[in-house]
Amino acid sequence: MPEQPFLERILISEEQLAARVHELGRQISADYRGKQPLFVGILRGCILFYADLMKNISVDCTMDFMCLSSYAGTGSTGHVRTMLDLRESIKGRHVVIVEDIVDTGLTLDYLMQHLKDRGAASIEICCLLDKPSNRKAEVHPKYVGFTVENEFVIGYGLDYNELYRNLPYIGVFKKQ
Ligand code: IMP
Repeated sequence: MPEQPFLERILISEEQLAARVHELGRQISADYRGKQPLFVGILRGCILFYADLMKNISVDCTMDFMCLSSYAGTGSTGHVRTMLDLRESIKGRHVVIVEDIVDTGLTLDYLMQHLKDRGAASIEICCLLDKPSNRKAEVHPKYVGFTVENEFVIGYGLDYNELYRNLPYIGVFKKQ
Protein backbone atom coordinates (compact mmCIF):
# COMPACT_ATOMS: atom_id res chain seq x y z
CA MET A 1 0.00 0.00 0.00
CA PRO A 2 1.39 3.46 -0.86
CA GLU A 3 2.26 5.65 2.11
CA GLN A 4 -0.73 7.64 3.37
CA PRO A 5 -0.03 11.05 4.97
CA PHE A 6 -2.76 10.57 7.59
CA LEU A 7 -1.66 7.09 8.64
CA GLU A 8 0.98 6.27 11.27
CA ARG A 9 0.54 2.51 10.78
CA ILE A 10 -2.11 -0.15 10.25
CA LEU A 11 -3.16 -1.55 13.62
CA ILE A 12 -5.76 -4.17 12.66
CA SER A 13 -5.94 -5.55 9.13
CA GLU A 14 -9.06 -6.27 7.09
CA GLU A 15 -8.50 -10.00 7.58
CA GLN A 16 -8.10 -9.70 11.36
CA LEU A 17 -11.29 -7.61 11.55
CA ALA A 18 -13.27 -10.15 9.50
CA ALA A 19 -12.07 -13.07 11.64
CA ARG A 20 -12.85 -11.36 14.96
CA VAL A 21 -16.25 -10.05 13.83
CA HIS A 22 -17.12 -13.59 12.72
CA GLU A 23 -16.21 -14.89 16.21
CA LEU A 24 -18.21 -12.17 17.94
CA GLY A 25 -21.24 -12.97 15.78
CA ARG A 26 -21.05 -16.65 16.71
CA GLN A 27 -20.65 -15.89 20.40
CA ILE A 28 -23.58 -13.44 20.49
CA SER A 29 -25.78 -15.80 18.46
CA ALA A 30 -25.09 -18.61 20.95
CA ASP A 31 -25.83 -16.34 23.94
CA TYR A 32 -29.12 -15.03 22.49
CA ARG A 33 -30.57 -18.25 21.08
CA GLY A 34 -34.39 -18.09 21.35
CA LYS A 35 -34.37 -14.47 22.57
CA GLN A 36 -34.83 -12.36 19.39
CA PRO A 37 -32.43 -9.57 20.42
CA LEU A 38 -32.60 -5.95 19.27
CA PHE A 39 -29.27 -4.64 17.97
CA VAL A 40 -28.95 -0.90 18.51
CA GLY A 41 -26.21 0.60 16.35
CA ILE A 42 -24.68 3.86 17.52
CA LEU A 43 -24.19 6.04 14.46
CA ARG A 44 -22.09 6.94 12.72
CA GLY A 45 -18.99 5.05 13.91
CA CYS A 46 -20.71 1.65 14.08
CA ILE A 47 -21.71 1.45 10.42
CA LEU A 48 -19.13 -0.93 8.95
CA PHE A 49 -18.81 -3.02 12.11
CA TYR A 50 -22.60 -3.23 12.49
CA ALA A 51 -23.16 -4.38 8.91
CA ASP A 52 -20.46 -7.06 9.12
CA LEU A 53 -21.57 -8.22 12.58
CA MET A 54 -25.19 -8.61 11.48
CA LYS A 55 -24.13 -10.91 8.66
CA ASN A 56 -22.69 -13.20 11.34
CA ILE A 57 -25.79 -13.26 13.58
CA SER A 58 -27.73 -16.48 13.11
CA VAL A 59 -30.71 -15.85 15.43
CA ASP A 60 -33.86 -13.88 14.57
CA CYS A 61 -33.23 -10.26 15.53
CA THR A 62 -34.32 -6.70 14.83
CA MET A 63 -32.24 -3.59 14.13
CA ASP A 64 -32.49 0.02 15.21
CA PHE A 65 -30.13 2.99 15.45
CA MET A 66 -29.30 5.99 17.57
CA CYS A 67 -27.01 8.87 16.77
CA LEU A 68 -25.09 10.37 19.68
CA SER A 69 -22.61 13.18 19.54
CA SER A 70 -19.73 13.77 21.97
CA TYR A 71 -16.49 14.10 20.04
CA ALA A 72 -14.79 17.00 18.33
CA GLY A 73 -11.49 16.31 16.54
CA THR A 74 -9.44 13.89 18.66
CA GLY A 75 -10.96 14.71 22.07
CA SER A 76 -14.18 13.76 23.85
CA THR A 77 -16.18 16.82 24.82
CA GLY A 78 -17.86 15.00 27.72
CA HIS A 79 -21.21 16.46 26.65
CA VAL A 80 -23.35 13.81 25.00
CA ARG A 81 -26.37 14.71 22.90
CA THR A 82 -28.98 12.43 21.31
CA MET A 83 -29.19 13.48 17.67
CA LEU A 84 -31.42 10.55 16.58
CA ASP A 85 -33.47 8.34 18.89
CA LEU A 86 -34.81 4.78 18.53
CA ARG A 87 -37.92 4.26 16.39
CA GLU A 88 -39.31 1.37 18.41
CA SER A 89 -39.97 0.78 22.11
CA ILE A 90 -37.37 -1.41 23.85
CA LYS A 91 -39.76 -2.51 26.63
CA GLY A 92 -39.17 -6.19 27.39
CA ARG A 93 -36.48 -6.51 24.70
CA HIS A 94 -33.00 -7.96 24.98
CA VAL A 95 -30.90 -5.06 23.72
CA VAL A 96 -27.35 -5.28 22.38
CA ILE A 97 -25.74 -1.87 21.87
CA VAL A 98 -23.28 -1.95 18.97
CA GLU A 99 -20.58 0.71 19.28
CA ASP A 100 -17.32 1.35 17.45
CA ILE A 101 -15.09 2.16 20.43
CA VAL A 102 -15.36 2.73 24.18
CA ASP A 103 -12.85 5.39 25.14
CA THR A 104 -13.70 7.55 28.20
CA GLY A 105 -16.97 5.61 28.48
CA LEU A 106 -18.93 8.87 28.89
CA THR A 107 -21.08 8.24 25.80
CA LEU A 108 -22.14 4.76 26.85
CA ASP A 109 -22.58 5.78 30.46
CA TYR A 110 -25.06 8.42 29.29
CA LEU A 111 -26.75 5.94 26.95
CA MET A 112 -27.09 3.19 29.57
CA GLN A 113 -28.71 5.62 32.05
CA HIS A 114 -31.02 6.79 29.29
CA LEU A 115 -32.07 3.29 28.14
CA LYS A 116 -32.39 1.65 31.56
CA ASP A 117 -35.53 3.70 32.27
CA ARG A 118 -37.21 2.34 29.14
CA GLY A 119 -37.90 -1.15 30.51
CA ALA A 120 -35.56 -3.38 28.47
CA ALA A 121 -35.31 -7.00 29.67
CA SER A 122 -31.51 -6.76 29.38
CA ILE A 123 -28.90 -4.43 27.92
CA GLU A 124 -25.38 -5.45 26.91
CA ILE A 125 -22.65 -3.63 25.02
CA CYS A 126 -20.76 -4.97 22.03
CA CYS A 127 -17.87 -2.75 20.96
CA LEU A 128 -15.32 -3.35 18.26
CA LEU A 129 -12.56 -1.58 20.19
CA ASP A 130 -11.97 -0.94 23.86
CA LYS A 131 -9.51 1.71 25.12
CA PRO A 132 -9.68 0.97 28.88
CA SER A 133 -6.71 3.19 29.80
CA ASN A 134 -8.75 6.33 29.06
CA ARG A 135 -11.86 5.49 31.12
CA LYS A 136 -13.68 8.21 33.03
CA ALA A 137 -16.97 6.35 33.62
CA GLU A 138 -17.81 2.81 34.78
CA VAL A 139 -18.71 0.98 31.59
CA HIS A 140 -18.20 -2.76 31.09
CA PRO A 141 -18.75 -4.03 27.55
CA LYS A 142 -19.62 -7.75 27.49
CA TYR A 143 -18.41 -8.26 23.91
CA VAL A 144 -15.12 -6.65 22.83
CA GLY A 145 -13.43 -7.11 19.46
CA PHE A 146 -9.96 -5.78 20.34
CA THR A 147 -8.40 -3.90 23.24
CA VAL A 148 -6.25 -1.00 22.04
CA GLU A 149 -3.74 1.41 23.56
CA ASN A 150 -4.51 5.05 24.14
CA GLU A 151 -3.91 6.11 20.53
CA PHE A 152 -6.31 7.83 18.17
CA VAL A 153 -7.50 5.32 15.59
CA ILE A 154 -9.31 5.69 12.28
CA GLY A 155 -10.97 3.47 9.69
CA TYR A 156 -13.66 0.77 9.56
CA GLY A 157 -16.24 3.39 10.59
CA LEU A 158 -14.03 5.48 12.89
CA ASP A 159 -13.31 9.02 11.79
CA TYR A 160 -11.11 12.02 12.32
CA ASN A 161 -13.31 15.07 11.65
CA GLU A 162 -15.62 12.83 9.56
CA LEU A 163 -12.82 11.56 7.31
CA TYR A 164 -11.39 8.02 6.92
CA ARG A 165 -14.50 6.06 7.96
CA ASN A 166 -14.28 4.18 4.66
CA LEU A 167 -10.87 2.61 5.25
CA PRO A 168 -11.26 -1.19 5.38
CA TYR A 169 -8.72 -1.51 8.24
CA ILE A 170 -8.09 0.18 11.61
CA GLY A 171 -5.07 2.50 11.55
CA VAL A 172 -3.35 4.86 13.96
CA PHE A 173 -3.96 8.47 12.94
CA LYS A 174 -0.85 10.50 12.16
CA LYS A 175 -1.09 14.02 13.56
CA GLN A 176 0.11 16.57 11.00
P1 IMP B 1 -16.24 8.01 24.76
O1 IMP B 1 -17.49 8.69 25.16
O2 IMP B 1 -15.02 8.79 25.15
O3 IMP B 1 -16.17 6.56 25.21
O4 IMP B 1 -16.14 8.05 23.20
C1 IMP B 1 -17.07 7.47 22.42
C2 IMP B 1 -16.97 7.94 20.99
O5 IMP B 1 -15.83 8.76 20.72
C3 IMP B 1 -16.82 6.74 20.10
O6 IMP B 1 -18.06 6.18 19.78
C4 IMP B 1 -16.10 7.31 18.91
O7 IMP B 1 -17.03 7.82 17.99
C5 IMP B 1 -15.26 8.44 19.47
N1 IMP B 1 -13.86 8.00 19.65
C6 IMP B 1 -13.23 7.66 20.79
N2 IMP B 1 -11.95 7.31 20.57
C7 IMP B 1 -11.78 7.40 19.22
C8 IMP B 1 -10.66 7.14 18.35
O8 IMP B 1 -9.56 6.72 18.75
N3 IMP B 1 -10.89 7.37 17.04
C9 IMP B 1 -12.09 7.80 16.54
N4 IMP B 1 -13.14 8.06 17.31
C10 IMP B 1 -12.99 7.85 18.65
